[in-house]
This record gives sequence, structure tokens and C-alpha cells, in this order.
Amino acid sequence: MKHLTHIRDLGPEGVETILAQAAAWKGKAPAPLFLGRILGMVFFNPSLRTRASFESVMLRGSGNAIVMDVGSGVWKLEDRPGAVMNEDRAEHIKEAAPVLSRFVDMLGVRTFSAGGDDEQDEVDPVISAFRRHVTVPLVSMESAREHPCQGLADMLTLRENFGSTKKLPVTLTWAPHIKPLPKAVPNSFLLTAAAAGCEVRVAHPPGFELHPQVRAEAEAYAKATGGSITYTHDQAEALAGSRAVYAKSWGPATRSAHTAGDVSALLASHADWMTTRKTLSRAAADALFLHCLPVRRNVEVADDVLDHPTSRVIDGAENRFHVQRSILSWLLSA
Ligand code: CP
Repeated sequence: MKHLTHIRDLGPEGVETILAQAAAWKGKAPAPLFLGRILGMVFFNPSLRTRASFESVMLRGSGNAIVMDVGSGVWKLEDRPGAVMNEDRAEHIKEAAPVLSRFVDMLGVRTFSAGGDDEQDEVDPVISAFRRHVTVPLVSMESAREHPCQGLADMLTLRENFGSTKKLPVTLTWAPHIKPLPKAVPNSFLLTAAAAGCEVRVAHPPGFELHPQVRAEAEAYAKATGGSITYTHDQAEALAGSRAVYAKSWGPATRSAHTAGDVSALLASHADWMTTRKTLSRAAADALFLHCLPVRRNVEVADDVLDHPTSRVIDGAENRFHVQRSILSWLLSA
């Protein structure tokens, strides 16, 4: 049985398979790929794009989707092995995952990082518990470590604009925010861009390093695909000659060592990392702008970037549909 919870489930070869199928189907009339099939979707956290795009994939493919919001209509779920369940979590994933597997043909789970502990994010406890206990294919709709559907959609967006991602200079630049955000999206952009052969530049202020295991995995993909990765604290240096700029906020690497006030002050101290047209003037003249959305306008990214013709944020969101159709079809294939 196949699962897609992390990019390592695909590797560079699998990334190519998903992207090629997504590109081949995009623009063609929807086929009844999921006739008689049901996707169960378990949300521990809110969503606009993920929920709507997965439901749309199933409905346009003649299938159905069941959406469950944990803690609101569905029991709060426990993931810890051996937990004494005497607090508010009424059901263990050990029962919930196999029970849901009896009702659906595939299961999707969204479970954000609990925050502040990158080592725990590496363990990815909730999606890992589902993975241990499901008896149908599992797809991540974003977990603590990764958001693979987002990374794959981003690569499709780059390919349809540039033809190829081989050695394409792209910058992942940190962005300011009002609160520390999880690292799943930057991790996934780095991993998929490396697996797609890009020349990736990662720019962030000191103290916002991505986890060493994520960086090592990305390095291995870059080595396999002829891509490359560089890290810098100098946004302008990273942007020089970049053909695409991906902005995303994420929390500091050692957040558990900070108080909430420290983190707010740290984020505020880097407000000048907001992406503006002036920032982008350092990139290639035809550089495109991407962001996973949702975006806080004029905090992370200025209006003049999001409203500029070079922004691909809406096309990028649409591509979630196309890669997820390809992913679900792949999960169901032998
Ligand atoms: N990019 C993304 O996953 O959007 P949602 O959080 O709205 O699903």
C-alpha cells in the first residue's frame, strides 16, 4: 500500500511521476478517476485551499469526500502510545485510523506542528500514528514536518512558467509575521525544489535555520538531480539573478529557548525582510513571485508584489488541484 506523507515517499523519481501526470491532465476535461471512491479528510487545523482542492478533485473525478474537523463534530484524538487518556482527548488514533479505513478508500490528514520543538516535528507524531494504524492509503494535507502537496504544486507552477526546473535559480526567502509559524512549507519547498533539480538559495535571518535532517535530505536530492542549495543571511545576495522568489515565514530554530515575548520581538526586529517590489528588483528582471497562501499583506509581502503581473500566487493555489489529482490517482494505483 502506498502513502504520501513526506517527499521521501516519492524521492526525485516519484516527484517526476506526479508532476508529469499532473501536467498531462491539466487543461483536459475531468475523467471519472475516482468513481465509487471516497476520500476521508481529517482536519486538526483550519484550511481554505487544501480542503476545497481535495474535495474538488474527488467531486470532479466522480468520487466523494468526507470532511471531519477534530474537536468540532469529531472526538479529540490522542496520538501518544501508552497515553493515560484522562484529559480531553476521547479517542486514540489506534482506533480512529483503522475504523475510518473501513469507511473510505483513502485518508488525508492535516496536523500542524505543536510549535517550538523542531526535534518533535522531525518525529511528526500525529501523521506517523495515522501511518502506523491506517489500512488504506494515507496522504498528508500538511503535517509538522512537511506539506508535500504544496511543494509539488509549487514545482508544477515553476515548470509551467519556465519549461524546466533543472538548475533554475530560485530563492526561498524568510518573511516576517506576527507569530512564529511552522516549518512544513519551507521544508517542503526546499525538498521538492532540490528533488526537481533547482539551484535553490535559502535566505533567512540568523537563528531561523531549517532542521539539519531536512537540509541533509534536500542535499541528497540536489546531488542526485544536479541541483544545488546555498544558505545565506543576506536576502539581496540570494535574490541576485533568481528567476523565482518564494516568500514564507517560519519560526526560529530554537523557539523552546525563547519566551513568547522574545519571539515576538525577534520577529518584529526583522520586519525589513518583507518582500516588496524593491526587494524583487534584485532578482532577474522577469522573476516570478510565489507564496503558498494564506498571506498577511503588508507584513509578509507588500501589496505591490501580490498585485503585480509577475505574481503567481493564484495559479500556484490552482495547481494544488492538479498535483493532488495526480497524487490520489497514484495512491490508488497498484
Ligand atoms: N496553502 C495551504 O495549504 O492553504 P490552506 O492552509 O488554506 O489549506
